[in-house]
Amino acid sequence: MTLEELLTLKETALREIGSAADAAELERWRIHYMGRNGLVPALMRQLKEVPAEQRAEFGRETNSLRQAVTGALELRKSALASGAAAAPAGAAAFDFSLPGRWNGVGTLHPVSLVIEEVCGIFARLGFTVADGPDIETSFNNFEALNTPAHHPSMDERDTFWLDDNRLLRTQTSPVQIRVMLSQPPPVRIVNPGRCYRRDTTDATHSANFHQIEGLYVDTDPVSLADLKSTLAHFAREMMGPDVKVRFRPHFFPFTEPSVEVDFSCHVCGGSGCRVCKQSGWIEIAGAGMVDPRVYAKVGYPADCYGYAFGMGVERIAMIKYGITDIRLLYENDLRYLRQFG
Ligand code: DAH
Repeated sequence: MTLEELLTLKETALREIGSAADAAELERWRIHYMGRNGLVPALMRQLKEVPAEQRAEFGRETNSLRQAVTGALELRKSALASGAAAAPAGAAAFDFSLPGRWNGVGTLHPVSLVIEEVCGIFARLGFTVADGPDIETSFNNFEALNTPAHHPSMDERDTFWLDDNRLLRTQTSPVQIRVMLSQPPPVRIVNPGRCYRRDTTDATHSANFHQIEGLYVDTDPVSLADLKSTLAHFAREMMGPDVKVRFRPHFFPFTEPSVEVDFSCHVCGGSGCRVCKQSGWIEIAGAGMVDPRVYAKVGYPADCYGYAFGMGVERIAMIKYGITDIRLLYENDLRYLRQFG
């Protein structure tokens, strides 16, 4: 018997078994194929006569035939037992021995890779990972964060407003509020998540992006120096030992004092290139000491100490992987994404 005949035999066997009308007919097919003098055992016995160089392949195919026939007999048996009608003659039989379709192993998206890495670094420092919804109340996203109604970020043009004073969160900072409302200090959390702004998409902006928020509040003193050393440690873990960190004074409604945090450009090492717009620095995060007004909003004692920070995930992914256009992160072109596996 040739290999081809073996495959044809498998097809025939599966079709015949699959169309057995009752238990008696099925038993006849079982004896025909698998009985002591059946076709399959006979083939197994003949294996030793197959020329040595073909034996391995023949052996494999014969085995696969045996498995397929055994599986088909089982399947038909239980189908008949549960009262199923015979498969229509000529219907394609189900071949148990076929390997599954191989689609390859997936890889994590660079945004997910960065989130995992950042959260991992902070987890090793004792931060837990918190979560919050994309749809937020105006209170959590703005008022509780000491952002008054006339603040520019409350502007209709920046925020996707929903009904009932709800909105798509413009930042992950409302998770600070949720966490503080739900537990007393000390609090030490990071929170990754999606944010939404009515930005026009270009090489560095997207209406839907990701941030990671951090919050550390304690009744024992926590200082700006703690914030700085924590973020410097984070930078080295994330970008390597040579990265430099710079704090620039800034303003955020919910921190006082507030800073913007820059990392030295990963692409040029700080000498200036297209990615850092020749400045040598890339803005990574906003941060600061939590404003006492925020403690008041969540009912925390006024003498708490704490810092908060919020960083852009895409920004980190772009400098870490040398991505020059944010849109590449959202096009889901597998040829592109596979490179991050
Ligand atoms: N939420 C700010 C933004 O989206 C970033 C930020 C700044 C978060 C300072 C903070 C912070 O927690 O303390 O621009």
